[in-house]
Amino acid sequence: MSATSPVRAVLPPDIRGRKGQIPLVVLTAYTTPGARLVDAHCDIALVGDSVGMVLHGMPSTLGVTMEMMILHGRSVVKGLSRAMPVIDMPFGSYEESPQQAYRNAARLMSETGAPAVKLEGGVHMAETIAFLTKRGVPVMAHIGLTPQSVNTLGGYKVVGRDGEADSVMEDALAVEAAGAFSVVLEKVPMGLSARITQRLAIPTIGIGAGVHCDGQVLVVDDMLGLFTDFKPKFVKRYAELGTLADQAIAEYAAEVRSRAFPADEHSFADVLKGKKP
Ligand code: KIV
Repeated sequence: MSATSPVRAVLPPDIRGRKGQIPLVVLTAYTTPGARLVDAHCDIALVGDSVGMVLHGMPSTLGVTMEMMILHGRSVVKGLSRAMPVIDMPFGSYEESPQQAYRNAARLMSETGAPAVKLEGGVHMAETIAFLTKRGVPVMAHIGLTPQSVNTLGGYKVVGRDGEADSVMEDALAVEAAGAFSVVLEKVPMGLSARITQRLAIPTIGIGAGVHCDGQVLVVDDMLGLFTDFKPKFVKRYAELGTLADQAIAEYAAEVRSRAFPADEHSFADVLKGKKP
């Protein structure tokens, strides 16, 4: 699937229509092989700006560029045949004005083939979300903990406790009224996310926001256990691939050093004895 391919099977209105039904399954994807794995089981493959931290070793998502999102977005779209791709708008690509947001969202969609973008922000981004949705850009909103604002929030904290609940609810209502087709709730206490989910007509997709959301999203490398030194409370590890990979690489290194690898079966004979190469 590319920017010039036919219309996708699953589009934002289908996702919106999943409100209150079987929970939406969302994982991040950053590459074609990763997207193929996600495609088999998920409704949405999110090309998150977490790519900066997960694949590029950045300390936060703030250094992620449009070029990175386009490169990874194209790669993911190639690996999907049924799940819907959504691409994150990187920090600095949409906050300045609705016009700036439109220019960059249109680039993300036309240069990758993804039918929707995600951006962070509630009440203060509502005007931009309305501008985009009225011009053919479906928007998934992202409220609660918004990692691109880590410096103003003062860290990756739970958002919505201690008197903050009303403002998170206002954000949710504002992005819905602006036309978002769904909203990610990140690190929102579960009672509040249940109330938001009940109040909104669009699906809520939780990450660290409890079981009552209309769907769940995780960073795929986190749930596969690819990082051995990073385990936030809201991540359940469904595999320990980091440990498995470490064991496999250690065994390879030992076998290279002891000359156990490559064996004859991994090598080519000098003379063919009646066998095809
Ligand atoms: O960038 C990302 O991966 C995200 C999800 C964690 C929601 O925004």
